[in-house]
Amino acid sequence: MSKLKVFITRRLPQVELEQLHEIAEVETWTERQPPPYSVLLDKVKQIDGLLCLLTDSIDKQLIEAAKSLKVISQMAVGYDNIDVAAATARGIPVGNTPGVLTNATADLTWALLMAAARKIVEAEKFVKAGQWKTWEPTLLLGADLSGSTLGIIGFGRIGQAVARRARGFDLKILYYSKHRKESELEQSMGVEYAELDTLLSESDFVTLHASLSTETYHLISDRSFQLMKSSAILINTARGAIVDELALYRALITNQIAGAALDVTDPEPISMDSLLLKLDNVIITPHIGSASYQTRAKMAQMAVNNLIAGLKAEKLPNCVNNEVYEQLE
Ligand code: NAP
Ligand code: GLV
Repeated sequence: MSKLKVFITRRLPQVELEQLHEIAEVETWTERQPPPYSVLLDKVKQIDGLLCLLTDSIDKQLIEAAKSLKVISQMAVGYDNIDVAAATARGIPVGNTPGVLTNATADLTWALLMAAARKIVEAEKFVKAGQWKTWEPTLLLGADLSGSTLGIIGFGRIGQAVARRARGFDLKILYYSKHRKESELEQSMGVEYAELDTLLSESDFVTLHASLSTETYHLISDRSFQLMKSSAILINTARGAIVDELALYRALITNQIAGAALDVTDPEPISMDSLLLKLDNVIITPHIGSASYQTRAKMAQMAVNNLIAGLKAEKLPNCVNNEVYEQLE
């Protein structure tokens, strides 16, 4: 019997592939850049399993062309690059990697928040440029965390992990989410629910942790910045397109807000022509929220486990469209 065929769209870190090799012929894209769309479109016509990354556009055309595809396994928690409805319509389960990256991403969020609040990146550049001449009373002043208000938008796994970090720094915590959480959870976490406009106008730091969808696309717009404090700092480690970046630029140059720290941009990578790159009060990192050795290894293994389950026609351990199983019942 011929083996199943699998395509993995990039080299995976520290992952156990033996079990996969037992049941499938595996081809891995080994270049640093993702496979071009035309290559992916061609590949999916011949495969049973696809392990992809958030840099791959898995759209309706691609899913419809993948006649023998049994599983799409994404090595990421976010899956806005995949047309899940198209996959569900074809009965193809889609896997993701929730949970294992929650702490790493919350840590990075906290690092960015602190770096922006205390101007760490600007200060480091200042020293290396030879500008440190003396201790000055007004040099590189930032904002206190203690006593400030943190507004968390999207109170899922990562949003809640950020709230746990904030408690150790004595911040008041407001959150806004699609669904208000139970009062027991609010109380135990020491957080208060606020409507979006209230959160924006009362927070000193606003951090984004919602998933990207048609509902959250440009959730943060000109209007949001008008509501925010002129001393506020925006942190985005969710998805770039949740923020209207031109509106953010306008808000930063007109001092509607004080700064921003972004791990995600729209598009990615950021264009070197982006006006945001010219501003000192913006920190930008290259989508490294989950980038720790341990976390990436766990994500890769989880994605491989989802892939193997899909190839064996077993329920994926982490599936985003469980409806595909209901269709079979
Ligand atoms: P999660 O547990 O599913 O949390 C996502 C939250 O988004 C949910 O709590 C949901 O609210 C909220 N949400 C959805 N639609 C909303 C809306 N219209 N308005 C307000 N809130 C809305 O996912 P997670 O594991 O925390 O990950 C969150 C996101 O972070 C991912 O989707 C991904 O895009 C991003 N991420 C980025 C990195 C990175 O490297 N920078 C790493 C990991 C994840 P309810 O709970 O109220 O329904
Ligand atoms: C990273 O951005 C993820 O969604 O896992």
